[in-house]
Amino acid sequence: MSNIILHNGYAMPQLGLGVYKAEDGKSAIDSVLWALEAGYRHIDTAMIYKNEKSVGDAIKSSSVDRKDIFLTTKLWNDDIRAKKAKEAFYKSLELLSTDYVDLYLLHWPAKSFEDSWTVLEELYKEGLIKAIGVSNFNKCHFDSLEKTATIVPMVNQIETHPYFQNQELIDYCLSKKIEITAWSPIGGSWKDANVLEDKNIESIAKKHNKTIAQIIIRWHIDRNLVVIPKSVRKERIIQNFNIFDFKLDSEDMKVMKSLDKNRRFGPDPENFDF
Ligand SMILES: NC(=O)c1ccc[n+]([C@@H]2O[C@H](COP(=O)([O-])OP(=O)(O)OC[C@H]3O[C@@H](n4cnc5c(N)ncnc54)[C@H](OP(=O)(O)O)[C@@H]3O)[C@@H](O)[C@H]2O)c1
Repeated sequence: MSNIILHNGYAMPQLGLGVYKAEDGKSAIDSVLWALEAGYRHIDTAMIYKNEKSVGDAIKSSSVDRKDIFLTTKLWNDDIRAKKAKEAFYKSLELLSTDYVDLYLLHWPAKSFEDSWTVLEELYKEGLIKAIGVSNFNKCHFDSLEKTATIVPMVNQIETHPYFQNQELIDYCLSKKIEITAWSPIGGSWKDANVLEDKNIESIAKKHNKTIAQIIIRWHIDRNLVVIPKSVRKERIIQNFNIFDFKLDSEDMKVMKSLDKNRRFGPDPENFDF
């Protein structure tokens, strides 16, 4: 398993388990435990997923040390707008049964996100967060943040998959040393998301004796991104991790690049209403 080194020197495992829509309780607990058993050392949750307690319980009960797990959570939009970043952060720590998080993200560029960023900087300096970042930020949001921030975000977590590659934004972020985490990396559970039925990716999958999901996850790794596929099924959690024994060749990468339709499945950061 490879790491991405953030601009503050902190190591972030390139493959993690996403837990959006993993139901709090048995489903979320089992998913995290299966993932840790399979070798994952990175879990991506958020206050709004309402499963931080289960993620924390699973980590506590697993045989893997907390210090060996990279744990991400996110500050929700309502708390950004209400300027309650500190309260929300401490609530997340409590639910996660931990005394620090590895990465804390502003979930969306909600109104007055610049003020919340200042709070994240303080918590980072206190050592309660090992790395700070944002999610769903476009260039215009970075331009605005730059006016007051003293620390450049270490990560931007954004939608990117074969049909919405988002390469221009990725190149911009990487030029600023902001690493990218890919959300909905295999197309997500969005209505009409049909990336996992793509015939071109299926041909690459046959060539490598892998599944379409594995090809897409490997593609993100070979793009030097962090990738956090979600599943609540043990066999898929294992399958999605089993991508370190092959690499895509330049012809495969060319085909993958050609599949971009600039087709976003999730909400647009310039125009979201939640
Ligand atoms: N920052 C943000 O705004 C934001 C937004 C969205 C997501 N995220 C994060 O990114 C993570 C991943 O994104 P996502 O959950 O939207 O989508 P995703 O990981 O691209 O796709 C998840 C969907 O694919 C299915 N699946 C997983 N592995 C599979 C496999 N090997 N074969 C076939 N189907 C498979 C899952 O079903 P089963 O569970 O039934 O297996 C689920 O329906 C989230 O969990 C969350 O942590 C962040």
